[in-house]
Amino acid sequence: MDMMMLVQGAAGCSIRWLAAVILSVCCLLPSCLPAGQGMDYSSPPVVDNQVVRLGETATLRCFLEDGASKGAWLNRSSIIFAGNDKWSVDPRVSITAASKKEYNLRIQKVEITDDGLYTCSVQTEHSPKSMQVHLTVQVSPKIYDISPSMVVNEGTNVSLTCLATGKPEPSISWKHISPSGTAKPFGSGQFLDIYGITRDQAGDYECLAENAVPYSDTRKVNVVVNFAPTILELTPSGVSVGKTGLIRCETAAVPSPSFEWYKGDKKLTNGQKGILIKNYSTRSILHVANVTEEHFGNYTCVALNKLGISNASLPLNQIIEPSTSSPVTSSAPSTAQYGITGRAEILFSCWYLVLTLSSFTSIIYLKNTIIQ
Ligand SMILES: *[C@@H]1O[C@H](CO)[C@@H](O)[C@H](O)[C@H]1NC(C)=O
Ligand SMILES: *[C@@H]1O[C@H](CO)[C@@H](O)[C@H](O)[C@H]1NC(C)=O
Ligand SMILES: *[C@@H]1O[C@H](CO)[C@@H](O)[C@H](O)[C@H]1NC(C)=O
Ligand SMILES: *[C@@H]1O[C@H](CO)[C@@H](O)[C@H](O)[C@H]1NC(C)=O
Ligand SMILES: *[C@@H]1O[C@H](CO)[C@@H](O)[C@H](O)[C@H]1NC(C)=O
Ligand SMILES: *[C@@H]1O[C@H](CO)[C@@H](O)[C@H](O)[C@H]1NC(C)=O
Repeated sequence: MDMMMLVQGAAGCSIRWLAAVILSVCCLLPSCLPAGQGMDYSSPPVVDNQVVRLGETATLRCFLEDGASKGAWLNRSSIIFAGNDKWSVDPRVSITAASKKEYNLRIQKVEITDDGLYTCSVQTEHSPKSMQVHLTVQVSPKIYDISPSMVVNEGTNVSLTCLATGKPEPSISWKHISPSGTAKPFGSGQFLDIYGITRDQAGDYECLAENAVPYSDTRKVNVVVNFAPTILELTPSGVSVGKTGLIRCETAAVPSPSFEWYKGDKKLTNGQKGILIKNYSTRSILHVANVTEEHFGNYTCVALNKLGISNASLPLNQIIEPSTSSPVTSSAPSTAQYGITGRAEILFSCWYLVLTLSSFTSIIYLKNTIIQ
């Protein structure tokens, strides 16, 4: 506290009141008073609490007992206002008074540094009185640091971090959002440890920071879990000569595998012997446009990525067509069903037509009888 400043600033005020202000200030700084000369308060100072959000306006209330008394506002140990004289250079602070008895301190656009104890010191005819307000500045949660998205191998230990600021201290919780979109709560705290991550634990991890203050903050980390291919399904099949043969190789793998096809020990390539291979992200399809005897045999699908390799085999068998002249074959069962339904529909339509015609003629017949 700069005493010279204090004296200069208060020039023109009554000496007695100034002394009281100085004494009030001193009472906040115990070292300022000689030992044993502490101020005597008739009652302990009232402590009020005021909670305000960052950026809002705070009004700290103080009452003067009568028109004659004077007040001063202090922020910790520095004077902001002495009576109507502003000592603070801060443009955000002002005195508001709805009545002669009020002596309120208004702080606009409250900052985090405004948090703390404010004292209203009132000089009455009899004794100085002091009232304290603890201003608590609340701040919405804000995530300032989060782990970057990552690619890991299945089985590794993963540690995710999410750091947030806010007042009161925000609580952190996590949610796991699988690639299919299902979200599940997944632990809490700034550090999330996943021991031996599995493929099912791949996806987004959403960090939520919240405290009593709106609005909560969220951010996401994407975790890709790599794993070696496994062949889920190799279908089907049997096929008859002259038809299209299809073998589908369905896998699970991250990253997407590359595929190889073998017939027996021989590697197959596109275009060879009427064979067409189509690769998709986790699936490969082998087409045989016009199956001949030489296509029957043992086929192997091999799926590989940087984490491993896997294969599965199945025989492509010949289906002997029924000796009847019917074009129905097992490779085209749906066409056969269509044929049957088609015939049924025609039968039904004919029957319906007959029914409609007959009822129509009976109506005419009935009408004629009634008229007669
Ligand atoms: C109160 O004091 C603190 C610390 O000296 C300062 O940062 C803050 O701006 C002051 N606030 C007001 C409203 O005077
Ligand atoms: C993963 O964490 C567990 C438990 O702390 C530890 O025993 C294991 O060795 C860790 N594995 C790796 C690959 O670091
Ligand atoms: C896709 O299929 C072809 C055969 O046409 C094969 O040579 C190629 O390696 C496959 N590519 C991938 C990425 O699996
Ligand atoms: C299928 O192959 C046979 C024998 O090579 C041939 O006679 C027939 O025309 C082919 N069918 C088609 C649709 O290509
Ligand atoms: C098919 O081929 C695979 C790999 O070459 C082999 O392991 C399997 O025994 C064969 N199956 C038949 C029925 O020949
Ligand atoms: C298929 O996998 C077995 C072992 O699982 C291996 O011995 C064999 O060589 C593989 N076949 C091909 C065609 O890669």
